[in-house]
Amino acid sequence: MSRFTSRLLNWYRQNGRTLPWRGHRDSYAVWVSEIMLQQTRVETVIPYFEKWIKRFPTVKALAQSSEQDVLNLWEGLGYYSRARNLHQAAKIVIEQYNGELPHDLDALRELPGIGRYTVGAIASMAFGMDEPTLDGNIRRVLARVFDVSEPADSRAGEKILWELAAKHLPKGEAGNYNQALMDLGATTCLPKNPHCLICPVMCLCKAHELGIQEKRPVMKPKKKTPHYIHAAAVIEKNGRVLLAKRPSKGLLGGMWEFPNARVNGDPAKELAKTIQTATRLKVRRKEALEIVEHAYSHFSVATHPFRCELVSMPENQNLKWVRVGELEDYPMGRIDRQIARQLN
Ligand code: ADE
Repeated sequence: MSRFTSRLLNWYRQNGRTLPWRGHRDSYAVWVSEIMLQQTRVETVIPYFEKWIKRFPTVKALAQSSEQDVLNLWEGLGYYSRARNLHQAAKIVIEQYNGELPHDLDALRELPGIGRYTVGAIASMAFGMDEPTLDGNIRRVLARVFDVSEPADSRAGEKILWELAAKHLPKGEAGNYNQALMDLGATTCLPKNPHCLICPVMCLCKAHELGIQEKRPVMKPKKKTPHYIHAAAVIEKNGRVLLAKRPSKGLLGGMWEFPNARVNGDPAKELAKTIQTATRLKVRRKEALEIVEHAYSHFSVATHPFRCELVSMPENQNLKWVRVGELEDYPMGRIDRQIARQLN
C-alpha cells in the first residue's frame, strides 16, 4: 500500500463522517444515495435520502410507484432526470435482474443514470469490489497531491486522474478508500482555503509543496451562461388554476408548470401574444405577481408571472385544472413552486 493510501485510510478511520447510507449493506440504498449525491451536497441529500428510503424502501416499491410520486419526492433536489432514470432503472432491475442490482460492471453501466462514476461507487461500497471512482472531491484531492496540470475536465486530465485513483487503491478496501477521498475533499481539501495544516497527506502533497493548491484542479475556461426572461400565465377559474405538464424528456421532464414562454421585450406587453403562440391558450392579462428567478446549470431565467383570465383553450391532454390547495401534489421546478406559493 502506498504511503498516500495508508495515511488516508488511517485518517478516515478516525475522521470519516457518519452518514445515513454508510450503515447500509443494501446495494439499493447505496445506489439511491450515489444518484442523489451526483450533483448535490451531502447536507442537502441527507433529509431527501431518509424520506426516500421510508417511502420507497426497496427496488420493488420504487418500481411500482408512479412517476408523479417519484418526482414529488425529488422536488427541490434539481436535475430531475436523475429521478426519472432511477425509476426506470428500478423497473429494469425488477424485470431483468430479479430485484437485485447486477454485480456485473457492464450490466450496471447499462442502467439509466449509471455512468462510470456511479459504477465505481456502487461496486466498491455495496459489493466490496476493487473499483476506483472519481467525483469532484476525489478529483480535487488527487489533482493537488499529484499535481495534475492537465484540465481535470478534459479527456487527458480525466484519464490521468482515473489512473491515479486506480494506482493507489488498496485491495479489499476500495469502499473505504473511495469514501476517504470524498470525505477528505469535502472537509479538508476544500476548493478555497483548504485546511492543509490538518491534512493527513500534506507532507506528500505536491501542490502544497509548490504553494499552488488553489490552482489545482485546473479546469477548462467556463462559457458565460445566457439569461432569459419568461412571461407566465396564472390562469384562474373557480378556485382552480391551469397547469401544463412538461414533455417527459429534457429539462424538468414530466413536471408541472404555469403556461409560460420566453419574451424578448416587456413581459407584460408580450404575455398574451407569446403564450398564444407557444401554447394556443388565449388569455387576458390581469395583475402582476412577484418575479421569480432561478439559475440552472447552463442558463438562468427570470419569470414574470401574471394573473390571467382565460379567453379560450385548445384540446390538450397536458393541461389540467388544479385546486389551489392541491398544488403541492404536483411536482414542479423551483420557479413554478415559488409562483404557486404566491397564490395561497
Ligand atoms: N459523495 C458521493 N458519494 C459519497 C459518499 N458515499 N459519501 C460521501 N460523499 C459522497
